[in-house]
Amino acid sequence: MSMLSAKHGFALVTPASRGLGFAFAQQLLARTQLPVVATARKNCDEVRDQLLSSNGLPQNAEERLRVLKVDVTDETTLSSMADSIRQEYPETPLRIALTVPGVLHVEKSPAQIDAESALHSFQVNAVGPLLLMKHLAPFLPTKSSSAFPVAEDSNVESELQLPTHAIYAMMSARVGSTSDNHSGGWYSYRASKASVYQIAKTFDLYLRGRCGNKALAVALHPGTVRTEFTKEFWTGREMLEPLDSADRLLRFLAKLPPGPEDGRGRCWDWKGEEILP
Ligand SMILES: NC(=O)c1ccc[n+]([C@@H]2O[C@H](COP(=O)([O-])OP(=O)(O)OC[C@H]3O[C@@H](n4cnc5c(N)ncnc54)[C@H](OP(=O)(O)O)[C@@H]3O)[C@@H](O)[C@H]2O)c1
Repeated sequence: MSMLSAKHGFALVTPASRGLGFAFAQQLLARTQLPVVATARKNCDEVRDQLLSSNGLPQNAEERLRVLKVDVTDETTLSSMADSIRQEYPETPLRIALTVPGVLHVEKSPAQIDAESALHSFQVNAVGPLLLMKHLAPFLPTKSSSAFPVAEDSNVESELQLPTHAIYAMMSARVGSTSDNHSGGWYSYRASKASVYQIAKTFDLYLRGRCGNKALAVALHPGTVRTEFTKEFWTGREMLEPLDSADRLLRFLAKLPPGPEDGRGRCWDWKGEEILP
């Protein structure tokens, strides 16, 4: 099967070097026929090879995958990403985006707060999604765009049935919820992830105006997932595998309707349950 035409759109996962982002890119390569733009801060060729050696990929995965260099702390890399996409996929709207950069500097008490580490958390976890949104928003369909076609009689049972509107999802975290904060700690991580609830909501309001029901934005919580991020807790705690979390979130996103009261602009977890800010 060859790659789909421009009107089907493209998928984007940033970053996809490891952990959840890598799993999202694997899923989108395996379960859609869309071009997939993935990013990494370094070793793009290696990341590409690793992604392409995943199990169960269709033959066209190689021609569908591009890995671009993006570090959210360097905005020039974001402009270059946008330029490359415009060149490579002219007139192709962004159909599904997952923005997942995240770092954790653990602070258990106020005394452990270090200004540089706290700034770094905000730079990656809060300003990162802001800048990605800035450079990716122009690729989303507008009110006058045609709806994405639905997959015709797909013969791949596991194929993800993407809706006719675009989905822009930003990775937040349950611990970014103020109402859900019962245990304290992790000051700068919590505060920077709380920003993502607000960014997703504000961006969604923008999309309502610009795109109507052709595009929506949400924040996500992936569950507690076995990645480098949670390495400290790997023993003695139940965890999701990255592919399972990515699968649950993608299936949830694919079914989320774009109506004004349907859940857009809010934060959803891997079970499809809302997390209040
Ligand atoms: N795992 C969990 O249980 C869990 C729970 C709640 C929320 N989350 C969130 O889910 C997201 C993914 O987490 P994960 O578990 O997959 O963690 P991970 O394995 O530690 O991956 C973190 C990712 O962020 C990237 N990154 C770090 N600094 C960056 C920068 N300056 N620019 C661009 N990318 C940067 C890393 O890239 P490099 O490979 O280049 O370092 C890596 O791809 C994070 O936002 C995290 O906060 C995870």
